[in-house]
Amino acid sequence: MTVESTNNPSNLAYTSGRLTLHVDLSTVNYSPEFQMFHCIRQVSGSHAGSGWYCDGFAAAHHLEREFPESFRILSEYDCYNRDVGSDYVDFDNIFWRPVFKLDRFGELERIFINNHLRGDRFSVKVKDSLFSWYEAYYRFMRLLHDRRRFLVPVKLRPGEIIVFDNLRVLHGRSEFELRYDEKRHLELIYCDRDLVYANARLLA
Ligand SMILES: [Fe+2]
Repeated sequence: MTVESTNNPSNLAYTSGRLTLHVDLSTVNYSPEFQMFHCIRQVSGSHAGSGWYCDGFAAAHHLEREFPESFRILSEYDCYNRDVGSDYVDFDNIFWRPVFKLDRFGELERIFINNHLRGDRFSVKVKDSLFSWYEAYYRFMRLLHDRRRFLVPVKLRPGEIIVFDNLRVLHGRSEFELRYDEKRHLELIYCDRDLVYANARLLA
């Protein structure tokens, strides 16, 4: 998939705006597990168009230690995600899921957060107010974007590739200026976790 800035974008990824940390395709049941960005062209400036990355598990565990109630709320209640538009094909994707998906042992398994696609519908028990959900969400978003502890900027140069787990490592981008003489062009590939691990074993 080509991620290129344009004056007529059909998706936020194709704009030149700032993108907060998120996972891709939080609006479908089968979200991609691994992502690869291959940088083809890059804009100038040390910060413009820089990628942002964050170990979401580390931030979530920090939240769990500091604010266990916030962690519980984000792991208990589904958040409504919706994406409507056209990108190669027309789509109207909706999925409900908690921000923190736990496994059967209560351990963090996956993170689903994409503020650009977050809707405003909730199913919250009476004992927990909607305010407490937003408070927990705001706390977590602030932690994710804390440059001293969790957010790591990585500006790829042409020819470089970055590979990460989409359901653990959140990604975003700083804004940049759209100019006629410069382009930010990344090629994006999604991979199954099974495929990545199988090849890692073969290469070991
Ligand atoms: Fe993305």
